[in-house]
Amino acid sequence: MRTSHWIRTRLPWAALILCAASLFAQELKPVPLPSPQTQIGRPLMQVLKDRRSTRTFDPEKLPAQVLSNLLWAAFGVNRPEAGKRTAPSAMDWQETDIYVATADGLYIYDAKANQLIPVVHDDVRGQTGTQPFVKDAPLNLVYVADLARTRSSSADRDMYVAADTGFIAQNVYLFCASEGLATVVRGSIDRPALAKAMRLRPDQRIMLAQTVGYPRK
Ligand SMILES: Cc1cc2nc3c(=O)[nH]c(=O)nc-3n(C[C@H](O)[C@H](O)[C@H](O)COP(=O)(O)O)c2cc1C
Repeated sequence: MRTSHWIRTRLPWAALILCAASLFAQELKPVPLPSPQTQIGRPLMQVLKDRRSTRTFDPEKLPAQVLSNLLWAAFGVNRPEAGKRTAPSAMDWQETDIYVATADGLYIYDAKANQLIPVVHDDVRGQTGTQPFVKDAPLNLVYVADLARTRSSSADRDMYVAADTGFIAQNVYLFCASEGLATVVRGSIDRPALAKAMRLRPDQRIMLAQTVGYPRK
């Protein structure tokens, strides 16, 4: 009698908790990206001619292949034997993490494994900047310097970290110009609010954000 009461009252809850736990574990699994297509792209001089900032975006999501290509161009591994990247970094610190904010959640680009590591499942796009277009554009990249990977005694550290971000942002500009995507790099960010939403540690510094999407028709 007692057992049947337990089954009726507790089992549905136990099943629900187990189901939620397994969904949560699944959702926190890294998301593999397709291999980047390194043979594509328009001639460099034409791309430089077209590079510009654009602030109107179509809400259409970017396909996984385009996202993979974009992130590889931004700061992917281009010399796997040495672990080196498509953008330079002072002292080869490689301290910049690219956070990827989409409608599905917030991820970190793991360049070495070519995958996205989930951080939070909330849509934080609207918090990545102060301008209205950021919440509807399909993708906002947030460049975060992890100061734990730098040498704090370096007098030029802040300048180096800022310069490192600039190289990545320019790679994204050039990729977008090549592929007909719209983009704008942004410094106008409520950094304390965004850091909280992104669950950053105190030694992680939000440098810039960059919105990417198809140009609005
Ligand atoms: C460090 C930096 C911060 C910027 N911040 C913003 C910003 O917060 N919002 C914005 O709309 N554009 C921002 N921009 C884009 C500039 O306004 C843009 O590059 C400039 O007007 C020149 O236009 P162009 O990129 O089309 O040549 C920023 C650019 C840089 C380099």
